[in-house]
Amino acid sequence: MKGIIALHTLLPFLLFSAILPLPFSAQPRNAKKPKTPYSDNNHHRLSSSAVFKLQGNVYPLGHYTVSLNIGYPPKLYDLDIDSGSDLTWVQCDAPCKGCTKPRDQLYKPNHNLVQCVDQLCSEVHLSMAYNCPSPDDPCDYEVEYADHGSSLGVLVRDYIPFQFTNGSVVRPRVAFGCGYDQKYSGSNSPPATSGVLGLGNGRASILSQLHSLGLIRNVVGHCLSAQGGGFLFFGDDFIPSSGIVWTSMLSSSSEKHYSSGPAELVFNGKATAVKGLELIFDSGSSYTYFNSQAYQAVVDLVTKDLKGKQLKRATDDPSLPICWKGAKSFESLSDVKKYFKPLALSFKKIMNLQMHLPPESYLIITKHGNVCLGILDGTEVGLENLNIIGDITLQDKMVIYDNEKQQIGWVSSNCDRLPNVDRDLEGDFPHPYATNLGIFGDRCPASYEETGCE
Ligand SMILES: *[C@@H]1O[C@H](CO)[C@@H](O)[C@H](O)[C@H]1NC(C)=O
Repeated sequence: MKGIIALHTLLPFLLFSAILPLPFSAQPRNAKKPKTPYSDNNHHRLSSSAVFKLQGNVYPLGHYTVSLNIGYPPKLYDLDIDSGSDLTWVQCDAPCKGCTKPRDQLYKPNHNLVQCVDQLCSEVHLSMAYNCPSPDDPCDYEVEYADHGSSLGVLVRDYIPFQFTNGSVVRPRVAFGCGYDQKYSGSNSPPATSGVLGLGNGRASILSQLHSLGLIRNVVGHCLSAQGGGFLFFGDDFIPSSGIVWTSMLSSSSEKHYSSGPAELVFNGKATAVKGLELIFDSGSSYTYFNSQAYQAVVDLVTKDLKGKQLKRATDDPSLPICWKGAKSFESLSDVKKYFKPLALSFKKIMNLQMHLPPESYLIITKHGNVCLGILDGTEVGLENLNIIGDITLQDKMVIYDNEKQQIGWVSSNCDRLPNVDRDLEGDFPHPYATNLGIFGDRCPASYEETGCE
């Protein structure tokens, strides 16, 4: 993928926040109970989490996806994970414009449309603009992403099974969008994914709904591996007990994404003139974007530092705006690390609070054997003054969005395997979990066997 494509995200313009109780009730169904209770299980009820394996990479795919089971019997949908927006949607068999999947892989609504009087419907609309002419009209939605892609559809409510770390499978009914009219930005080839899993902090997100149902703490995190894949989790079980750098979320009620700051740019351990950056953490964006001024500063610093080294600009590589070639073609980032200095973002409010950006966090090696700068000019693509920390920089870190404490945390991690958790997960814990994180992988979860899942 080239350039800014997978910058899906941000400011879905219709989303709006209202603090209202959600009108539906939990329908938990414990298919499986642990035989032995966990010893530390009694301190609070919401101590369970759910973990999902991820696929994808920054380059060449440009996105990370999760396979989510939806419906009953459940069907798998591969969804782009997007911490920059909150509404989840899947391609809809409605009929559909801009659906990229074969018809049998589309979601088919089955008398389960959310009505426009439903309170969740007001969560996805600017209330004053939304018109609900008759109570049983369907609730429509439209989201537009920063890359100018969009999805239009209706809200539906259906079962989504979650396997929790305590061993239970719960199938709450959760609302999400059934998108029957998608647009993908300009020259980009349409994505291979079936939709978007919104991880943002709006009330319409699946996480918020699970939280309102009393199933989980309002915490979500991801660990995107530079090798490809990684994992995503809801709840706080996987948060390491030490080593995390926490910074407070900037709260802004009309926006559904996670931001922090102000931060200053550090180049090779030295302060730079770039200060006051507010940063949006956006797993829906492949690359990192800085406002023009900060971007230009990065380009100048990196370029100046490359003087006299064996790298030449590769203007013939269309992969990204700025690429360099070496004497012979590069195969991996380890071939180029010695030419590039580490960057860091320093959150000044707290001493020594930094996000480190080693060369791997801002460079890619393209299929043409060149190295390219994965920090792009956001102003140029219409992001104005926004700064976005995309997948390239989020890689190989566990990143945690804690909506309860209103803080964002990160720690360097090996995202190819689940971190050790304090609690003993052996015993009755489902086998696939332990071996490959394969929660609801490509087959029917064991607990459906009793209920006729095919
Ligand atoms: C496991 O956690 C889920 C989600 O919080 C909860 O609904 C379920 O009752 C728990 N199961 C047990 C056996 O504690």
